[in-house]
Amino acid sequence: TGLITLDPGYVNTGSCESSITFIDGEKGILRHRGYPIEDLCEKTDFLETAYLVIYGRLPSQAEYDRFRDDIAEHSLPHNGLSRMFEAFPKDSHPMALLASVLPSMYAYYPYDENDPAQVDKAILRLLGKIPVLASWVYRKLRGWPLNYSNPDQSYAANFLDLTFNTPANRFKLDPDIVKALDLLLILHADHEQNCSAATVRMIGSSQVNLYAAIAGGMCSLWGPLHGGANQKVLEMLEVIKNDGGDIQKYLDLAKDKESGFRLMGFGHRVYKNFDPRARIIKKHADRVLSKLGINDPLLKLAKELEEAALNDSYFVDRKLYPNVDFYSGIIYKAMGIPTEMFTVMFAVGRLPGWIAQWREMQSGSTRISRPRQVYQGETRRDLMSMVKNH
Ligand code: CMC
Repeated sequence: TGLITLDPGYVNTGSCESSITFIDGEKGILRHRGYPIEDLCEKTDFLETAYLVIYGRLPSQAEYDRFRDDIAEHSLPHNGLSRMFEAFPKDSHPMALLASVLPSMYAYYPYDENDPAQVDKAILRLLGKIPVLASWVYRKLRGWPLNYSNPDQSYAANFLDLTFNTPANRFKLDPDIVKALDLLLILHADHEQNCSAATVRMIGSSQVNLYAAIAGGMCSLWGPLHGGANQKVLEMLEVIKNDGGDIQKYLDLAKDKESGFRLMGFGHRVYKNFDPRARIIKKHADRVLSKLGINDPLLKLAKELEEAALNDSYFVDRKLYPNVDFYSGIIYKAMGIPTEMFTVMFAVGRLPGWIAQWREMQSGSTRISRPRQVYQGETRRDLMSMVKNH
């Protein structure tokens, strides 16, 4: 079998060729299909960026309108999917519900993998139904009646409306809040071979259906070292605040390998200078909070923590900087989104990236992903069973 090279965590192993997203971790550069993330945030909305990420080029006006209408047409999830949620306990984590329902979509919307038109429809169904299902997760857990998509508003506005609108407490679609969510969704749209994208490709390489592959990506995202970090950051900031704001104590804890505590929202496998997404979010956190008239002590604490860490040789030597998850939770919180929904928000934003990675994989090498190992277990042993009553 030849010599096997070990690379735990795939630190130096390229798993594919890709034309979707470019990252230069030393310079803090992120581009989708060649366009800098800063320009995409400024000049597009989430749907336009999603189209770009998935199909490789910016849509014309007609293509954009068609894309929006097609997504709206496929946005109604089958009632059977909502009934699945009824089996879950009331205090379930929203990601448990959302991740469970995804592979079941194939039961309701099976398609012929060899027919490109049907594959396209599966993609539109995901883009249309996932925000609705994500909103239903939230509403089911609260015992609220479910809302349906309104195609006359933007993807971000529709999601906020779907999730938080109640007749008794009409959710105000403040344009600043909608803009902030749109920006957050754009910032999460894709990030090359991160854990969840690599999972989607790995699972997809077995030629399982798209829904099942995306479900795998969603589960991978849930982990605290990946998309689950945004929830953990906010919980960490709350703990530090309630502990008298003793930042140094938590920096020391993060430096102590025995403690098992890490500074959540800090560090990145690829970015070794700064995370451009974190820079953009930090700028907007100030703007959104001041527009909303919110003076959140957690934002002040987050800034102090960042500054203290960036002046500490442990973090400087290891090139550990705030990542996308460090400030996103503070904006979500200001928008009234509960902490346990943060990773769901990430999943809604990352959907185009997973779809794009899956499409690119399908159109390239169709070889199954199958890493090798270095076996360290027992050599051949003689078997002497100790069980008498087989
Ligand atoms: N706090 C304290 N020490 C850290 C941290 C941290 N957040 N991150 C890395 N280190 C240390 C680590 O202990 C190691 O030290 P040493 O060289 O002395 O053994 C060194 O820095 C390198 O870390 P690593 O674990 O080898 O780095 P990695 O590339 O395997 O992991 C990471 C990257 C993002 C998982 C990690 O930095 C981490 O756990 N961060 C906290 C969780 C987090 O914020 N995740 C979100 C990532 S960005 C968005 C996303 O993917 O969803």
